[in-house]
Amino acid sequence: MLERTRVAIIGAGPAGLLLSHLLHRHGIESVVLDSRTREQIETTIRAGILEQGTVEVLAGTGASDRVLTVGQKHEGIELRFGGEGHRVDFADMVGRAVWLYPQHEVLKDLIATRLAAGQDLRFGVTAERVEDAGTTRPRVLARDADGNVSEIEADVVVGADGSRGVTREAVAGTRGGYFREYPFAWFGILCEAPPSADELIYSNSPDGFALISQRSPTVQRMYFQCAPDTDPGAYSEDRLWEILQARVPGTTLREGRVFQRDVLRFRSFVTHEMRRGRVVLVGDAAHTVPPTGAKGMNLAVADVVLLTEALRALLLDKDGRLFDAFPETAQDRIWKAQHFSWWMTSMLHLQPGAAAFDRRRQLGELRTVVESGAGRAYLAEAYTGWPLPGREAILGY
Ligand code: DHB
Repeated sequence: MLERTRVAIIGAGPAGLLLSHLLHRHGIESVVLDSRTREQIETTIRAGILEQGTVEVLAGTGASDRVLTVGQKHEGIELRFGGEGHRVDFADMVGRAVWLYPQHEVLKDLIATRLAAGQDLRFGVTAERVEDAGTTRPRVLARDADGNVSEIEADVVVGADGSRGVTREAVAGTRGGYFREYPFAWFGILCEAPPSADELIYSNSPDGFALISQRSPTVQRMYFQCAPDTDPGAYSEDRLWEILQARVPGTTLREGRVFQRDVLRFRSFVTHEMRRGRVVLVGDAAHTVPPTGAKGMNLAVADVVLLTEALRALLLDKDGRLFDAFPETAQDRIWKAQHFSWWMTSMLHLQPGAAAFDRRRQLGELRTVVESGAGRAYLAEAYTGWPLPGREAILGY
């Protein structure tokens, strides 16, 4: 069966759902497909930090009210190294903040908002191919769990289907992208315990990196650097606490039952092509960052804010200039976020085989940052998020 819509969005993650929401505010109809079930989407554990601009877009457009009521505002982080903690005060440095509000909560809010607005949102439907990318009538061929095939023709197809989705291939073919792999990963846990600190602690210790994050008054999220091939079941709970505790000297961690463990891969990637004809990529489908600094979802939101304006101009005003320029415009922030994520990663992690020189140089770099107003301001500006071009248009609508 051939169906028609204005924008076919592949992927019901933060990028795809937010895009459908912002398009709806302009009266532009879309269909959103995702191979996963609603439950899978709403329970997958991801990062927890939202830039100020992300929060303004979510709250200011009615996508999520809970981000302001349930989310917690954080006005600084601590960098810990050489046995001491050094606070980077965001409010003082740049007058901005971040919010701790887990990505799956953002997804729950977005799904509820979209369904309440009558969005055509199809779970368990897998996009198998994108065809006719080079024409003004691109098509998505999809299949549901029962094997029923559908074909959706649109003015524009948006790939918000992550790094393993089919859209990247339809846009970039085998041309691939810029790629960097890192010789370590993060071991992440969720545990039942009260917070061990008021703010997040990013710790560079002689044994490797650790991050003490939070979720709620009773649940905490923590990570430590591990080898990329680590088996999540490899450590006993006692051993996990021993490793984590050793990496944050000066803080006594409040321990509790560990009820979730995962190992996160570290990669940097930017596709060579973000658009082919009327098919365009956003979020992880176009780029991946390592998790240090929590830029992944925030970067997806920034792509979507830009793309919304471009699609509004293309589809409502018949002006394709912003759409044609989208890849070029989006690249500015993508590479700034790539740099920041790489920089935080390289400054805080122990490189396997690092010589004594490398270790001391790294501590010198950390001192340069925390002992300089300019250094702390740079970190604060990047962490809380650079200005979002297109934000005024989105919020003012
Ligand atoms: C979290 C994840 C990050 O990558 C980060 O830099 C900060 C916090 C988190 O999951 O809480």
